[in-house]
Amino acid sequence: MRFDVLTLFPGLFESYLQQSLLKRAIQRELVSVHCWNIRDWAVGKHRSVDDTPYGGGPGMLLACPPVYECVEAVRQQVEDPGELIMLTPQGERWNQRLVEELSGQKRIVLLCGRYEGFDERIRLGLKPREISVGDFICNGGEVPAMLLIDTLIRLVPEVLGDETSSKYESFAEADLLEYPQYTRPRDFRGMTVPEVLLNGNHEEIARWRRQASLERTQERRGESG
Ligand SMILES: C[S@@+](CC[C@H](N)C(=O)[O-])C[C@H]1O[C@@H](n2cnc3c(N)ncnc32)[C@H](O)[C@@H]1O
Repeated sequence: MRFDVLTLFPGLFESYLQQSLLKRAIQRELVSVHCWNIRDWAVGKHRSVDDTPYGGGPGMLLACPPVYECVEAVRQQVEDPGELIMLTPQGERWNQRLVEELSGQKRIVLLCGRYEGFDERIRLGLKPREISVGDFICNGGEVPAMLLIDTLIRLVPEVLGDETSSKYESFAEADLLEYPQYTRPRDFRGMTVPEVLLNGNHEEIARWRRQASLERTQERRGESG
C-alpha cells in the first residue's frame, strides 16, 4: 500500500516513519510513505501558501493554487492516481468500518490542512473524500494523517506478525469491544487472573471471552454498541 502525504510540515513524519511496525513494513516493502511539501508548489518571492479569508475573520486559509498544483503533480507520479483524502474535522468520522473499506486501496493521497483550513474550492474542485478523526480540532492534518496510516497498515497482509491479531481486536466484529486480557504475573497486588483463562480448555475460554466482550460493549457503549 502506498501513501502520499501532502503537508506543510513533512519533517513531522521523520521520526514516525522510523518506528516499530511501520518501519518494518516499509523495510519489507509492504508499505511505502512519500511526504511532499505543498510549499514546493508555491510561487513568488515568499512562496506563500496561505491568505486571509474573503469577508474577514480570524486566521489564514490554504490557498487553491499551490494545493491544486501539488495534488495534481503528486497524483501523476504513478499510473494509479489513488484515492484523495482531505483531513478535515468536517469529514466522515474515521472508524474501523472505514479502515476496512479503505484498506482495499493500493494508493492513498492524504491532504493535510493547517491554519484555519482550506479554501472551499479545494474541496469543490478536487473532490476529495473528506475524513475527520473525531469531533475536536487538531492544529493540522498531520497527526490525523498518521492516525489513518497507523490504522490502515494493520490490515495490509503480512504487516502484523500474527495475522489473527487484527481479527480479534475491538471493532473487528460488529463494533464489539475486545475482552479483558491478562499476562504474567498471575496475582498482582491481589488482583488475580480469572480461573477460566488458566485451565487450558479452549472452548470454555472462547465462550468466556465472547461473553466478556458482549458485557463490556454493553457497559461502555450501551445501545449504540
Ligand atoms: C485548525 S484546523 C482548521 C479547522 C477549521 N477551521 C474548521 O473549523 O473546520 C487545521 C487543519 O487541521 C486538520 N484537522 C483539524 N482537526 C481535524 C480532525 N478532527 N480530523 C481531521 N483533520 C483535522 C485539518 O486538515 C484542518 O484543515
